[in-house]
Amino acid sequence: MQSKFRLLIVGFGNIGRSVLRSLSNYPDFECVGVVTRSPERVASELEDMLIYDLAQNDWKDCDADVAILCGGSKEDLPNQGPLFAKYFNTVCSFDTHAHIDNYIDESGKRQSGYYHIMDAIAKMNKHTAMVCHGWDPGTFSMMRALFTACLGEVRAEGFYGLTTGGGLSMGHSDALRTIPGVKDARQYTHAKPGAIEILKSNPDMLLGLGDMHWRECFIVAEDGADKDRIKELIVSMPNYFEPFDTTVNFISEEELDAKHSGMPHDGMVLATAEHGSMEFRNYWSSNPQGTAGILLAFARAAVHFNEDGLNGAFTSLEVPIKYLLREPSDFLKYI
Ligand SMILES: NC(=O)c1ccc[n+]([C@@H]2O[C@H](COP(=O)([O-])OP(=O)(O)OC[C@H]3O[C@@H](n4cnc5c(N)ncnc54)[C@H](OP(=O)(O)O)[C@@H]3O)[C@@H](O)[C@H]2O)c1
Repeated sequence: MQSKFRLLIVGFGNIGRSVLRSLSNYPDFECVGVVTRSPERVASELEDMLIYDLAQNDWKDCDADVAILCGGSKEDLPNQGPLFAKYFNTVCSFDTHAHIDNYIDESGKRQSGYYHIMDAIAKMNKHTAMVCHGWDPGTFSMMRALFTACLGEVRAEGFYGLTTGGGLSMGHSDALRTIPGVKDARQYTHAKPGAIEILKSNPDMLLGLGDMHWRECFIVAEDGADKDRIKELIVSMPNYFEPFDTTVNFISEEELDAKHSGMPHDGMVLATAEHGSMEFRNYWSSNPQGTAGILLAFARAAVHFNEDGLNGAFTSLEVPIKYLLREPSDFLKYI
């Protein structure tokens, strides 16, 4: 029997938990441990699992084939990515699109992008780092490139929240919770169906951000908070809400817990040419679970690439799909 890929989970939040839960559908993996900054919290959730404290050094000696990095893109992965790429093959879902390639920061200084930092460290240590995987970036990136190539330099657009309930945006929900007087909040993004139809029939039409999506907020206010003021601060928040049609609904904590505890999300990539269009869609009743499955597929590729001596960082565009399969040699089955 073929031995299993030994998997280390780094960070135990929504994605880390979902990776572990998904393993029953990925029998070619076994989890050899979880690395976390909060060993006590994680130990209270997991039995029979080796839990490593990130602050200690013993995780470095863990005999893993690949580490799935499940930390947040904003604060965790910029540090944890380079650190773990020194010791392991890695997979991550870094999704700060503007910081993947080299970029100029707010003070006008040139900064190295995450892809380039991970590429240098992985090459230096003869490791393979699968970077920016998940659905966006990830499978959506593959489709943007594929559609543009096949339709001839068209623009590929992303639409999010196509179902009636829309897609839960964790980043926008976090932004709402920073407003004084907001106790808890959820934000759902909705695609404007009219915009999808316009784009299908007018490939040259340029749509602005607010033409394609609208935003729906559910807010639990602190006792005595000024709701008119909260609403005003939300709809005028630059970048997050100001360019969009935004509705604000105040609800009780009980209603929020009862109706808004899931993490659904969905979206599509659409590209239109004069002679036709191409589209790709995914729907997740649980966004972290959907993302976890994609990360596990690319974890297989990380191990295969490394065995073949392919070191450095690789995005979804650089990985032949057969390496995502449990049996890469079976690829003709899918043709
Ligand atoms: N590319 C894509 O399509 C895609 C899709 C979805 C998400 N993502 C990315 O995935 C990242 C992670 O998402 P997530 O939903 O898993 O984030 P999350 O639940 O906030 O977890 C992030 C980290 O926070 C810590 N944490 C989680 N729960 C905690 C708690 N109760 N108390 C203290 N610390 C806690 C964990 O680290 P420790 O265990 O070390 O404490 C965890 O690794 C996001 O930042 C996003 O950028 C990408």
